[in-house]
Amino acid sequence: MAESLIIPKGASKSEKYEALLPQLKALIHYESDLTANLANISSALNMAFDFLWVGFYLSNQEQLVLGPFQGPIACTRIPFGKGVCGTAYSEAKTIIVEDVDAFPGHIACSSDSKSEIVVPIIKDGEVKLILDIDSDSYSSFNEVDQKYLEQVASFISDKL
Ligand code: SME
Repeated sequence: MAESLIIPKGASKSEKYEALLPQLKALIHYESDLTANLANISSALNMAFDFLWVGFYLSNQEQLVLGPFQGPIACTRIPFGKGVCGTAYSEAKTIIVEDVDAFPGHIACSSDSKSEIVVPIIKDGEVKLILDIDSDSYSSFNEVDQKYLEQVASFISDKL
């Protein structure tokens, strides 16, 4: 396993994702433990982009429960259908929120969070967990993030 990530400085968002994704794939290739892989993926995304919060919530069949993450302490349990995470889970689709205060039912784990993207990780037609990323700036996420983070989600799904 490589000891450090190589992310080009001053690169565009797309260029950073293009550099990061093969490294992420390699990072989890030889490891079968889900917790270990989610921990390294959240760290790698955070190192590449310096987000406010990057992490995972896993379905335990009744609700979403906090998994590996990087950033401030966070809510531990989110009911299906609630908040951005529970909505992305229930609708099985990526949700981009440009202003968290404008999202009905948004769950504020940190008052510093201003925008958010949540990507479901689907296996055999069922959402198993979600990737949640928060930014301390408004409108931080767009279709570029969606495109690449959905690829990250597929890497994880392939290991489930
Ligand atoms: N804001 C999320 C809750 C999780 S934290 O952002 C880490 C939501 O509305 O579901």
